[in-house]
Amino acid sequence: MLLQIPDVLNAEQVAQARRMLDESQWVDGRVTAGHQSARAKRNLQLPEDHPVSRQLGDMILGALQRNSLFVAAALPLRVFPPLFNRYEGGQSFGNHVDNAVRQVSGTSVRVRTDLSATLFLAEPEEYDGGELLIEDTYGVHSIKMPAGHMVLYPSSSLHNVRAVTRGARIASFFWIQSMLRDDAERTLLFDLDTAIQRLTVDIPDHPAALQLTGVYHNLLRRWADV
Ligand code: NI
Repeated sequence: MLLQIPDVLNAEQVAQARRMLDESQWVDGRVTAGHQSARAKRNLQLPEDHPVSRQLGDMILGALQRNSLFVAAALPLRVFPPLFNRYEGGQSFGNHVDNAVRQVSGTSVRVRTDLSATLFLAEPEEYDGGELLIEDTYGVHSIKMPAGHMVLYPSSSLHNVRAVTRGARIASFFWIQSMLRDDAERTLLFDLDTAIQRLTVDIPDHPAALQLTGVYHNLLRRWADV
């Protein structure tokens, strides 16, 4: 499932993030790349243990917890602490698949990357290029969203970031280990959840809503790893 989630951060939060990121010292993005992706990766990154990464990361994690669309779609078990990157002056990230397992720096916590997320922190008008291109069985999707919006996609997908030829593309990126490893099962539950929400709005108190909610939870119980 590829899902665009609007307004994860509000304008004030985006402005605060941009102020703090503009004042920070960026490093070569290859510090977090795997062996294969290091060759394709040309960008700048904020170090994982940088205090600004931690502070803004916590702000994003808080926003995600309150975002019902994110929770319903990702069914998150663990979220990797958000990282931050910057592309400018022709920088790009060639086609790659994200590492399957990531260790949170300085801890023994490991995150299986079921879903990848990019949260845009620059407006599309601020830069040329920089589209996130994601391949799935339906073709290639080109993603470039307003600041504060986020895209969620299976970490198993091949993806790349096109060269930024004007301005700077600033974003947060991170991974989610879902309670459901399987994308197809997760998508079914998300569709069921969405249908139940619509039913309860359109026909309040219909007994089928209760029955379908039971089906939702019994499938989740069957499939979830927690
Ligand atoms: Ni990637």
